[in-house]
Amino acid sequence: MKRIYCRACNACGLQEVLNLGRQPPSNALLASPKDKENYYPLRLVHCRACSLLQLDYDVPHDELFTGAYPYYSGQSKQWVEHCRQYADMIYQRLGLTKESTIYEIGGNDGTLLANFAGRAFFLANYEPSDSVADHARSHGIPTVSKAWGRGIEQIAYPPDLIIANNVMAHDPDLQGFVETTAKYLNRGGTFTAEFPWAKNLIEQTQFDTIYHEHYSYFSLRALIPLFTEHGLSIYDVEKLPTHGGSLRIYASHTGAREVTKHVNDVLHEEADLGKMETYWKFRERAYSVRTEFETFLAHLSNEYPVTLCAYGAAAKGNTFINWLGLRASDIAAVGDTTPAKIGKFLPGSRIPIVSEAQLMQYRPDYVLILPWNWTQEITEKLHCIRAWGGQFVTAIPELKVF
Ligand code: TYD
Repeated sequence: MKRIYCRACNACGLQEVLNLGRQPPSNALLASPKDKENYYPLRLVHCRACSLLQLDYDVPHDELFTGAYPYYSGQSKQWVEHCRQYADMIYQRLGLTKESTIYEIGGNDGTLLANFAGRAFFLANYEPSDSVADHARSHGIPTVSKAWGRGIEQIAYPPDLIIANNVMAHDPDLQGFVETTAKYLNRGGTFTAEFPWAKNLIEQTQFDTIYHEHYSYFSLRALIPLFTEHGLSIYDVEKLPTHGGSLRIYASHTGAREVTKHVNDVLHEEADLGKMETYWKFRERAYSVRTEFETFLAHLSNEYPVTLCAYGAAAKGNTFINWLGLRASDIAAVGDTTPAKIGKFLPGSRIPIVSEAQLMQYRPDYVLILPWNWTQEITEKLHCIRAWGGQFVTAIPELKVF
């Protein structure tokens, strides 16, 4: 469905930032290379009124978040550690106890909530995707198979803490998401959310993080008016290194907590997100990344036969691959450790997803790291490619071969 109005403030006049063409949903992996994908417009626009970056075409939520959602939070050691540190920090900071109620929205396979097991009175994971919800349940995390939002008619206990990590962007009904959070959050409770910071997306040319599952791309300046509208106040904010640079926001009912100075500091840093010039420059840089990689590929085909593979069947990889129109003739295979992904094919490009062991059988001369946010973890893991002179490649924010 094409959008004309901003999903945060209802203003009209959305301006194009980057048009990535028609693409299949990034996580809709194919069981066979002969399967047919659905293609939808993928266009980033900017709201002149509130600055929210968003897609102007909504693929229905049910088509994107099916029962077989293949992303499992527990797959990355770094993310598991990130969740553990957050849980300890927030437990202490908010003074949570064994009497506390903690909800996580889109808690996936329960990786984060597992850190509170035995330390809270009640835990609930609101997770609409069956594959990961079942995994969470089987590991003892109470899970409700529903998406958070206006459809939630009642809850068991008012939460002292609601956590939404990398999930707000996944809801096309952003206003409903915030409204529901304000409705159920306990009076003295806190809502925390993490999301990739739009400032980094723009400044570091992370255009591959644009895909249909991400309906919105957040900055503090866009969220504050939306939260205020629903009686919530963002009282603190922190910068995090995750996903190419994220923000963690803390919100409470308006007036319940004092707003820290960090909020103003971050707003100040976001000043350029109000200028269209910022977005024109971003678009130019995105096209340069594309040209650089095309040049790299053209150069490879002139060399002695060279095998280029990829690693990490990340959603962001598909935006990159499909915008460049790459195929299995360009990238022989992509390695991944997720059992639900191995044996499938990337949508659009139809590149096969293989296990790490299978990837090594290709003896790749180059391994393109698609989830560049995990570069360190991946290069350490795959150092064995050095044995035959293999090199790693990252394409964003600029081409690097190392
Ligand atoms: P992710 O970071 O979730 O990116 P996106 O949000 O764009 O999907 O995806 C990382 C992918 O890489 C995921 O399929 C898991 C895979 N992966 C491995 O297979 N092994 C690893 O060591 C790491 C870090 C990731």
